[in-house]
Amino acid sequence: MDIIHSVADLRARLQGVPNNVFVPTMGNLHEGHIQLIDIAKPRAACTVVSIFVNRLQFGPQEDFDRYPRTFEADCRRLRKAGVDVVFAPDEKEIYPEPQTFVVEPSDLQHILDGAARPGHFRGVATVVLKLFNMVSPHSAIFGKKDYQQYIVLRDMVRQFALPIEIIPAETVRAPDGLALSSRNAYLSPKERREAPRLYKTLRQAHGEIIAGARDFQRIELHIMSELANHGWRPDYVAVRRQADLQAPTAADRDLVVLAAARIGKTRLIDNVEVFLER
Ligand code: PAF
Repeated sequence: MDIIHSVADLRARLQGVPNNVFVPTMGNLHEGHIQLIDIAKPRAACTVVSIFVNRLQFGPQEDFDRYPRTFEADCRRLRKAGVDVVFAPDEKEIYPEPQTFVVEPSDLQHILDGAARPGHFRGVATVVLKLFNMVSPHSAIFGKKDYQQYIVLRDMVRQFALPIEIIPAETVRAPDGLALSSRNAYLSPKERREAPRLYKTLRQAHGEIIAGARDFQRIELHIMSELANHGWRPDYVAVRRQADLQAPTAADRDLVVLAAARIGKTRLIDNVEVFLER
């Protein structure tokens, strides 16, 4: 496994590689990331993973400095997973000068997670476009746990006609249903026992919609109060259509129920897709 820090070395290493598949990360890797690599490997002549904690996507209240940096452990995991290239640039390599040109991800950046985290998706889209230009991947894999991020990046690639296939990956869950996330490490043992309720309530909503419920606002309010009754502080619960994360019309068949809620100091997100019969 090659560990590369500069864009020049990265381009030299990847030159002529017929099919490189890219998994961008901010490190602090867990089983969910390894699943993305397992999806990448059979498709790739070369599997490339980036590790870069992107300041641009953190808000002023969010703790960029305290984000866990676990580079050595990450590299051990990646080597074991059979990754070919790790791209681990420092900030100067990605942002050698102030980033005055940015990618504005349309209205998508102001709703759901974007409403709670102003500038977040701009920061994500901007760094991912830069990483794409550095890695020149044939495909890139993004987990559906960060559903809105996946939609933003899918649409960015389509609208800028980037020659990259975006491959969504299913959310990896603990046996009790909790979606794997770096943030789970912040949960106390008591919070960890409570945390699977988020997925459980989303599954309930899924069941109700499949059974014919169409009063989405009632479903959203019901989940919010269920969470609040168990000590959560919900940010949003929303039934949306998968295509653009807007409110569904009666004709929409492919929906997604998304939620973000705080338990103690930790903010968790999750979602469940709903496919209605056509
Ligand atoms: O999902 C993440 O870890 C980050 O948002 C990403 C895509 C690596 C961009 O910094």
